[in-house]
Amino acid sequence: MRAVILISGRGSNMQALLEAGLPVEFAAVISNRPDAPGLAVARGHGVPTAVVDHTQHPDRERYDAALAAEIDRHAPDLVCLAGFMRVLTPGFVQRYERRMLNIHPALLPAFPGLNTHARALAAGVRLHGCSVHFVTPEVDAGPIVVQAAVPVLDDDTPERLAARVLAQEHRIYPLAVRWFAEGRLTWDAQGRVRLIGAAAAPRDCPALIWPDG
Ligand code: GRF
Repeated sequence: MRAVILISGRGSNMQALLEAGLPVEFAAVISNRPDAPGLAVARGHGVPTAVVDHTQHPDRERYDAALAAEIDRHAPDLVCLAGFMRVLTPGFVQRYERRMLNIHPALLPAFPGLNTHARALAAGVRLHGCSVHFVTPEVDAGPIVVQAAVPVLDDDTPERLAARVLAQEHRIYPLAVRWFAEGRLTWDAQGRVRLIGAAAAPRDCPALIWPDG
């Protein structure tokens, strides 16, 4: 199984994937920003890097065509968006249909888009979290593979909440990629993702209830 990871910045989710001991050859890490700190992290793991700079292309169609050309050089079975901060054209998304994953820092379908942690605090939700989903043309709306929930604490700031969520992102993204690599992800008739061989119910903790009186 070959995978390519797309990043725009820090690359901590990319790093979690590279360090998870997955049965995956990470063929390349590609950034749309030449100054993305994650590029050096990838090189430190011996993974080839490339930059397809969005400022060097006149429109989304031509940018996505250049990006697809770079991705396809590596003939990946899977494309992992890991903090890749670009809206993708429908043509690009269709090219990687059912083989492109994204990590989103919210319990989708709640809080798609940006600034999810501040919006979760403003909304007063008591549980927040993260989702790994397949990418479809509508932003942050594709079939969900796995989610993790965390409690929202009374004294949370967006930064503290983000850190609590990020720790879970680093757990669930490698899980989802492992399941994909093992061929355990399938689609039901409604287009939802199902995990082959999953436990019928959670083993020990049937629910995360918060606050805890
Ligand atoms: C993560 O919170 C991810 O969920 C979101 O952007 C952030 C990227 O962080 N899409 P990193 O680059 O993986 O550290």
